[in-house]
Amino acid sequence: MKCTTCKAQAVVALPSHTAGFCEHCFLAFFTRQVEKGIRRAKLFTFEDKILVALSGGKDSLALMLILHELGYNVTGLHIDLAIPGSSAQARAIVEAFCSRHGLNLIVRDMAEEGLAIPDVKKRLRRPVCSACGKIKRYFFNKAALDGGYTVLATGHNLDDEIARLFSNILRWDISYLSDQGPYLPASGGFAAKVKPLYRLSEFETANYAFLKGIDWHWAPCPYSPGATFTYYKKLWANLEEEMPGRKLDFYLGFLKNGRTAFSREEDLSGAPLVPCKVCGYPTSSIVCGVCRIREAMSQSEESGKAELDF
Ligand code: AMP
Ligand code: FES
Ligand code: ZN
Repeated sequence: MKCTTCKAQAVVALPSHTAGFCEHCFLAFFTRQVEKGIRRAKLFTFEDKILVALSGGKDSLALMLILHELGYNVTGLHIDLAIPGSSAQARAIVEAFCSRHGLNLIVRDMAEEGLAIPDVKKRLRRPVCSACGKIKRYFFNKAALDGGYTVLATGHNLDDEIARLFSNILRWDISYLSDQGPYLPASGGFAAKVKPLYRLSEFETANYAFLKGIDWHWAPCPYSPGATFTYYKKLWANLEEEMPGRKLDFYLGFLKNGRTAFSREEDLSGAPLVPCKVCGYPTSSIVCGVCRIREAMSQSEESGKAELDF
């Protein structure tokens, strides 16, 4: 196969774009897609202070590198979850990546916070994944607030977005369908949230990371194998193979025509945000979710596993 752009030998075939590219032209294609995504969804500008959440996986590291190369003002944020056999390696990879490319990095260590995920799992009766998600979001938002960042970027790619959209549609979850997308505006003191890789598939980001020599961490979380989303991704991979381009059309079509059909005039999300009584973080209840996790963990130290509604 020849490169669609320059006719050299192609190294990456992209049936969904009816194209194939040599290394140089693939990297140019990838860059154009990220730039187009930023421009079309008005994600941020060169004036923004962007905090990029780095898990150590290929997507977030690829995102950090490309935004840096495009000249955006980026700082990395890694949450060390203290999961044995996984977190230490992820953290080392993120630290090595940032020092190799001369990038600023903030690390928040959950063991130091008393919130090591294995301890949370041991002490709470609820599934650990929802507590873990809440803890990560809390520290993402808190680091953005504390550091004066205007935008928080994550490495979600097109396949992640499709799996989430599909799952929301299967449940007809109107509240999620009305604001799913690559851009969530700043509100209640929280930075805007963006997903600049929304036009790129997992295959494309993996190729980009590989061609750029990124060393990434791959180990599924021992507590959340993500079975449902993995199943949806497989389903969509089959569809894409039969009908190349369907994933991107489906997602962009949703952003253009579908999402507006679910948007609501009034905000049904309920109570206004107030500072958490314990830590000051914006919350709709008196004490924020993470402070309630901490409270429940200390109670369970005395009386076994704690029930927790957060
Ligand atoms: P996941 O939900 O694990 O697929 O992660 C989605 C995105 O969330 C990643 O691309 C990162 O941007 C961010 N993320 C996940 N885990 C962490 C972490 N431990 N530290 C910083 N960012 C993370
Ligand atoms: Fe949070 Fe696995 S990464 S429970
Ligand atoms: Zn709090």
